[in-house]
Amino acid sequence: MCGIVGYIGKRDAYPIVINGLQRLEYRGYDSAGVALFSDAEIKLCKTKGKVADLDKKCKADIDLTANIGIGHTRWATHGEPNDVNSHPHISNSGDLVIIHNGIIENYESLKKELTNRGYTFSSDTDTEVLVNLIEDVQKNDNVKLGKAVQIALNQAVGAYAITVFDRKKPNELVVARLGSPLAIGVGEDEYFIASDASPFIEFTKDAIYLEDGEMAVVRLGRDVRVREIKNDNLVDAYVQKLQMNLDQIEKGGYDHFMLKEIYEQPSAIEDTYRGRMLVKEGIIKMSGIDDHLERFLNANRIIIVACGTSWHAGLVAEYIFEDLARIPVEVEYASEFRYRNPVIGKGDVLIAISQSGETADTMAAIKLAKENGAFVFGVCNVVGSSISRITDAGAYTHAGPEIGVASTKAFTTQITLLTLIALKLGKEKGSISKSDFYLYLQEMDLIPSKIEKALEANKHIIEVANHYKNSRNCLYLGRGYNFPVALEGALKLKEISYIHAEGYPAAEMKHGPIALIDEEMPVVVIATRKGHYEKVVSNVQEIKSRKGKIIAIVTEGDEQVSKVADHVIEVPDTFEALTPLLTTIPLQLLSYHIAVMLGKNVDQPRNLAKSVTVE
Ligand code: F6R
Repeated sequence: MCGIVGYIGKRDAYPIVINGLQRLEYRGYDSAGVALFSDAEIKLCKTKGKVADLDKKCKADIDLTANIGIGHTRWATHGEPNDVNSHPHISNSGDLVIIHNGIIENYESLKKELTNRGYTFSSDTDTEVLVNLIEDVQKNDNVKLGKAVQIALNQAVGAYAITVFDRKKPNELVVARLGSPLAIGVGEDEYFIASDASPFIEFTKDAIYLEDGEMAVVRLGRDVRVREIKNDNLVDAYVQKLQMNLDQIEKGGYDHFMLKEIYEQPSAIEDTYRGRMLVKEGIIKMSGIDDHLERFLNANRIIIVACGTSWHAGLVAEYIFEDLARIPVEVEYASEFRYRNPVIGKGDVLIAISQSGETADTMAAIKLAKENGAFVFGVCNVVGSSISRITDAGAYTHAGPEIGVASTKAFTTQITLLTLIALKLGKEKGSISKSDFYLYLQEMDLIPSKIEKALEANKHIIEVANHYKNSRNCLYLGRGYNFPVALEGALKLKEISYIHAEGYPAAEMKHGPIALIDEEMPVVVIATRKGHYEKVVSNVQEIKSRKGKIIAIVTEGDEQVSKVADHVIEVPDTFEALTPLLTTIPLQLLSYHIAVMLGKNVDQPRNLAKSVTVE
């Protein structure tokens, strides 16, 4: 999704804006631009391509001296990615300049009206319409910029995070949000604007997060004034102290964020259960659950909604909740759930899982469930994100910033958190014995070190990746708890290496996919020595007899599958319900190495965005 950065104050704005855009690259984009203001002039520089291309172009084309600047990374929605459609966009008079994340749905009718009034447009974007609408209001109603933005936004339908600057008012920026995140960094005699806090974290730890439907006039020399866009009410702006460090968001010596994040999983998982899972005391403490225990214990069912990798974590959770807590669970794609008139009752608990906490479809599913009286619990990673604010209760995964677009540590920490919840409910309900509960806590506590062990297979996985890097297709098979892991393994491979991959429950192979198997087809089989082991062994033999190439993920010391498989990758033994936390690791590494060998942009795969704030 698009990224927004802005600065107003005493420092050089350009380095802050350009470095800020670089930090927001993880959101996904296809073009970028900046606008700087000095000597009563707005200097614009935009380009299709990467922030590095923009930096080169700006250095060659414009004077970079300025104390006010805004910048944008654009992920195309209206109009192809090119220099003209890139933001910032300037109004017809040349006075107003805007950056915008989101979509103005009624832009065509607004554009028609403005065209009739003599406005002209050079781009295909909805954003250029919005900036001219603001200008039109400013002129006709003779109001200040803040008021003009407010009136214009009340005519616009859609989603946005915007920053607007007026050449005639060079001491302020006007910002607003509806459906896309926006943070204001508060420094001494300076302000920063950004889609998240990463662009300004080294300058200030004080931030105001705008809520949906709020706008603010950010003027030098006075406190930020936040008001509601609809009814003009002033809002008490809450200044948060941020905990995040800069080195938390940098690569830390790894070649890619994705690899760093794969290796961070042992500590990320510890961070998820730290302070919640007290092994010695034999308890799980989670205020989000403790405060609403009855709702969970009396739930008719749990509905889990999510998208992508988070949906896969939901599928793993379905097995865990049904197994350990004996509560019926349905797992839904948020995008389907929101549009299919689902039956939701007051006795339902809806769990929404989202790393970013900003996914538009998941937000819409939550709103629908709330309207129908369900209790909504959020599982998010990004603190202060939109989902975490609209849910009735929730718990953060505390995985730390996930920058690689392909989700890795978010997945395993989501599973960890959901396992804690299932264990806690199982204990309360008596569906799991006290002794089993304690055994689970002890085993959970060993998972970080077992992941360290699983990561030791990295060298061997590089060799395996080398064998299969030129494959055109790949099948992933798993059963039970490891069926969702097969889906996740396939998703990881396709999204970063662009190799076609599909995940299936191993037994489903006979109902169709087996027709694909020949000597060209690698099949990744998760065959840990648990539940359905013997059945998976039969599946492996079926593949072998059709000359398929088998890459098996097995439990340490396995002999049976190892005799048949072409390649074997071992993971430590653990309880069946916890195997996804280990079997996922080699699959992440396999897709990572294949993508690197193919020269793909691992951290920013084509066409993908880290946080999908449009449906
Ligand atoms: C895959 C991936 C996506 C996200 C999906 C949901 O690696 O990252 O499939 O999982 O877009 O995002 P969140 O969890 O932020 O709601």
